[in-house]
Amino acid sequence: MGIFVSKKKIEEPAQPEDPEPSAPEEPAPSAPEPQETVNPDVEYVVSGFEKLQADPACHSLLKKHLSKEVLDKLKETKTSSFNSSLRDVIQSGVENLDSGIGVYAPDAEAYVVFSLLLDPIIEEYHGGFAPTHNHPAPDFGDTNNFGDLDPDAKYIVSTRIRCGRSVEGFPFNPNMNQTQYQDLEKLAETSFASLPEPLAGTYYPLLGMTDETKNQLIEDHFLFKEGDRFLQAANASRFWPTGRGIFHNKDKKFLVWVGEEDHLRIISMQEGGNVGEVYSRLVQGIQAMEKTLKFSQSARFGWLTFCPTNLGTTIRASVHIKLPLLAASGMEKLQAVADKFQLQVRGSSGEHSEAVGGKYDISNRERLGLTEYEAVEKMYKGVEELIRMEKEAENKDDKKEE
Ligand code: ARG
Repeated sequence: MGIFVSKKKIEEPAQPEDPEPSAPEEPAPSAPEPQETVNPDVEYVVSGFEKLQADPACHSLLKKHLSKEVLDKLKETKTSSFNSSLRDVIQSGVENLDSGIGVYAPDAEAYVVFSLLLDPIIEEYHGGFAPTHNHPAPDFGDTNNFGDLDPDAKYIVSTRIRCGRSVEGFPFNPNMNQTQYQDLEKLAETSFASLPEPLAGTYYPLLGMTDETKNQLIEDHFLFKEGDRFLQAANASRFWPTGRGIFHNKDKKFLVWVGEEDHLRIISMQEGGNVGEVYSRLVQGIQAMEKTLKFSQSARFGWLTFCPTNLGTTIRASVHIKLPLLAASGMEKLQAVADKFQLQVRGSSGEHSEAVGGKYDISNRERLGLTEYEAVEKMYKGVEELIRMEKEAENKDDKKEE
């Protein structure tokens, strides 16, 4: 689709439609029954359901868990805080049939009001986080326990750990107005100004950014994707680029995204495989920002995020890694190996991208129902194993050649 999608602009999912009903043959009775008013949001979710079911190539968790029964129970439901409907929850997955997940929470209340649909999606994504489970209290653990996964710098190109945060007092993206985007940005800037060395740096607002700065940020792989169709269809890109921007410290190892998918994405990254250094810096950064900002939390889901895949710790700990032998048969094969360690494999240019130059992005998949420390540990132990397996394959290859 590629264009901004508002509730008003998309009235129907793109699919063959029934022709307009022809004019009634009988003249209308003189005192007609009061017509049921057609609610476009209800119509949208009903035909959206059919569109999902009709596409054999669609494998999203939305399609799997939006049964006719769930649809009928939720199609008229709204949140009391923002009047968000089922349409707001599923529109991205209906417009993008290649979604892996297909849902977003238009507001915090949606996690409760639409739990009939969201709970099973959350449970499946986060490794069995059942409706009776509660997310544990935040615990960064001892960051010094992690070392360098690849001291010889043979496999790991870079390491990145990020978390997402919503700032209290602001709604999620689809319900933010322009002033709120501006206010959020101002608050973030105040927080950046208070960061101690070596985290201190510069904020680059997207609004009015020169091409030179933009190109530099793109070259450094720092700038977030503009025009993400999944976010656009979820109404998460309104007033772009107002209130959006990127902060980074002087050595470009500590970054914060403002106003992208979440209010804030706090990121620590560097070349090589030193997970300990990357994680320590992230924890320092979060703790420094917590001094000036209050983040939204839920008793059951931990830190609140726009996408249910990021709830809880919100931690995605990843490496860009070359595993040529394990990856010889492509991303799907590598994913099958990574599944054993609950890791996710992505291409090297971010989400929904292909692997370039045999480089893969491997990260912990689950973020909810475990501590921050455990989330990083999942990636650490899993990648350690993958490197061990790659080395084993190298040895076998060597033997063959002997
Ligand atoms: N909505 C997209 C999908 O279902 C992305 C989901 C996870 N990624 C994210 N950035 N929240 O494929």
